[in-house]
Amino acid sequence: MNDLLYVNGGNPLNGTITVRGAKNFVSKSMVASLLGETPSVLRNVPQIRDVKVVSGLLDLHGVNVKYDTDAGILDLDPSNVESAHVADIDAHAGSSRIPILFCGPLLHRLGEAFIPDLGGCRIGDRPIDYHLDILRQFGAVVDKRPNGIHLRAPRRLHGAKISLPYPSVGATEQTLLTAVRADGITELSGAAIEPEIMDLIAVLQKMGAIISVDTDRVIRIEGVDRLEGYTHTALNDRIETASWAAAALATGGDITVKGATQPEMMTFLNTFRKVGGRFEVQDDGIRFWHAGGDLKSIVLETDVHPGFMTDWQQPLVVALTQATGLSIVHETVYENRFGFTDALRKMGATIQVYKECLGGRDCRFGQRNFHHSAVVSGPTPLTAADIEVPDLRGGFSHLIAALAAKGRSTVRGIGLIDRGYENFQDKLEALGAEVVRG
Ligand code: EPU
Repeated sequence: MNDLLYVNGGNPLNGTITVRGAKNFVSKSMVASLLGETPSVLRNVPQIRDVKVVSGLLDLHGVNVKYDTDAGILDLDPSNVESAHVADIDAHAGSSRIPILFCGPLLHRLGEAFIPDLGGCRIGDRPIDYHLDILRQFGAVVDKRPNGIHLRAPRRLHGAKISLPYPSVGATEQTLLTAVRADGITELSGAAIEPEIMDLIAVLQKMGAIISVDTDRVIRIEGVDRLEGYTHTALNDRIETASWAAAALATGGDITVKGATQPEMMTFLNTFRKVGGRFEVQDDGIRFWHAGGDLKSIVLETDVHPGFMTDWQQPLVVALTQATGLSIVHETVYENRFGFTDALRKMGATIQVYKECLGGRDCRFGQRNFHHSAVVSGPTPLTAADIEVPDLRGGFSHLIAALAAKGRSTVRGIGLIDRGYENFQDKLEALGAEVVRG
């Protein structure tokens, strides 16, 4: 596949596109199928590379995976789960962080698991210390070797009282996927409560798990001896929705996102309105448009749910380059998520990054040498450039910038965007963009 996209920018994006299941839920829900004694069916599954990667990993472990791409239906049959060869798992290394979430289910089913060097977006160190601590607390033996991490469960894993130092999405999912089959009760405090996690809890409940979400980020799980398969329709992708909304704003366009739902988008919608965007919630989607006139600068801080998602930050920053005045953006989830602004500067944006916590409270990255605050001064017209995609969301942001910039841009490394944006080239064309794969 060609990894280069020529973009003739400077025109508003107008029209309607559809989003399907959330990348950051679908992959976890696919892993959950490993816990069932019977097959599972997942609906509303988008055709993105992460689904292929997780299907490949499940297949290696003996799960029979059938994917009807048009209907978006995945059939997952875990009747013959087996240990995969380390070399085969390793072949998937570098492409995803999902292997770490296989550990709990595999330890229950097979008594062992292996984690290769993990991939995923380069947006910070992305350590796995919380995951390994959690698995140890359930009774797993963790052995770090040169080729990866080997885990064993000498006996049935047992419930634990776990407290997360930070409400990590992955660590919360790790706890859920391990606790549901562990012996006894697990209490997790400091849990992440993102909508994708709530949907995973819904899946696990359908499978027979007993999970209660209490106040103040506490989740209690009563382990059970057996889980069945599930049938579930994935919640839609709120990151993709916000990405298209930001594209409407940055290009002065009007985009209706079918499948977008208001409850998961509330925090984004508030910010979108403050910047000067308009939206209309419809029965089957949300319409986002630029109301004309000046966009307004804002002070923005990313946070865990129900705060403003870190994954919404990058696309919105492109729109902020077109807002009048100084916008301040404080990234508190990842220490290194402003690398993508280099390309925006090259295209004419005025963006300065700072190590200090600007615009609000101090976060855990203050005083630690990370450029995690940005000041965007606008409006600045963007000009076409030759740019390279740095990571998934940063890459989509580059695309938005190229679409907003007058002239022909070359966006390289476009394959990364396939990881999380279904048929994005078709969608761009449907919105009137002039794009050609090189
Ligand atoms: N962290 C640790 N140690 C750990 C795990 C996390 O220090 O063991 C730190 C991370 O370094 C980060 C913070 O905790 O600073 C939050 O990370 P989290 O664990 O919440 O992120 P994740 O589970 O690895 C998922 C999504 C990300 C999304 C974040 C936050 C998936 C596959 N990925 O990552 O999505 O940004 O939650 O919502 O679900 C994307 O879709 O482009 C993406 C990066």
